[in-house]
Amino acid sequence: MAEDGVLAYPIIAVNDADTKHMFDNRYGTGQSTLDGVVRATNVLLAGMRVVIAGYGWCGRGIASRARGMGSHVIVCEVDPTRALEAVMDGYEVMPMGRAAASGDLFITVTGDKNVIRAEHFTKMKDGAIVCNSGHFNVEIDIPALEKLARSRKMSRPFVEEFTLRNGRRVYLLADGRLVNLASAEGHPASVMDMSFADQALCAEYMVKNARKLKKKVYDVPKSIDQQVAKIKLESMGVKIDKLTPEQVKYLASWNEGT
Ligand SMILES: NC(=O)c1ccc[n+]([C@@H]2O[C@H](COP(=O)([O-])OP(=O)(O)OC[C@H]3O[C@@H](n4cnc5c(N)ncnc54)[C@H](O)[C@@H]3O)[C@@H](O)[C@H]2O)c1
Repeated sequence: MAEDGVLAYPIIAVNDADTKHMFDNRYGTGQSTLDGVVRATNVLLAGMRVVIAGYGWCGRGIASRARGMGSHVIVCEVDPTRALEAVMDGYEVMPMGRAAASGDLFITVTGDKNVIRAEHFTKMKDGAIVCNSGHFNVEIDIPALEKLARSRKMSRPFVEEFTLRNGRRVYLLADGRLVNLASAEGHPASVMDMSFADQALCAEYMVKNARKLKKKVYDVPKSIDQQVAKIKLESMGVKIDKLTPEQVKYLASWNEGT
């Protein structure tokens, strides 16, 4: 919107604060997404082949939590660096076209659309479970699933069974909406506190700096990000080290120790 000149007011990209995406997206979405899947289905994650589309902050969190529960995790990505990171984090990486045939549970967290579509549904095993924890209910091409189905029924709350014309059943959770919000309770308060603190402090910053700010997208001021991390640590009773004056000088210098 900024590029198109259609922003009506200044924006601060709170999601990009370290104290937001590194915690809310990673640990919050990581835990609550699996919580949503389990509450909706009561599946055993141990031994399941879990396909995660998107290895961003949310995808990383879901992948590590799924691995912790004993799942075999497969990652699908479009970004080579993130795909490489997933490989070196020890996950199998492959295109959705291939993962579709071997996954038991599919979770999209890309912020993109039609990440799982007709060509993938037709390859899925009987009983495959498909859900989304990304931004909106467009990550899974539900109209395509509807077209492929010869019948559909709710098999339990939040779980819709689609019987495809090839006879296999695909289970769609929570209408493809964010599964952690639909069938679980979203993130715990003890991680949302930081996101909301970022929002509140950024709102205050905007009011105080209203005259200076333009209709652009701004980063969260570093001082706010650090303040939130500091307060969170204090609330957890965790103390950390402080740089000595000598270390401050050393870290800023170029002519010592090089
Ligand atoms: N469920 C929740 O409560 C919750 C919480 C935070 C964020 N989100 C949403 O989750 C989504 C992901 O957030 P994030 O912080 O991980 O973002 P991110 O930008 O860090 O990661 C998204 C990843 O998806 C990849 N991607 C894009 N299109 C793809 C495709 N077609 N196939 C495979 N990979 C693809 C990108 O390359 C990127 O690595 C966003 O839509 C965000 O709004 C949900």
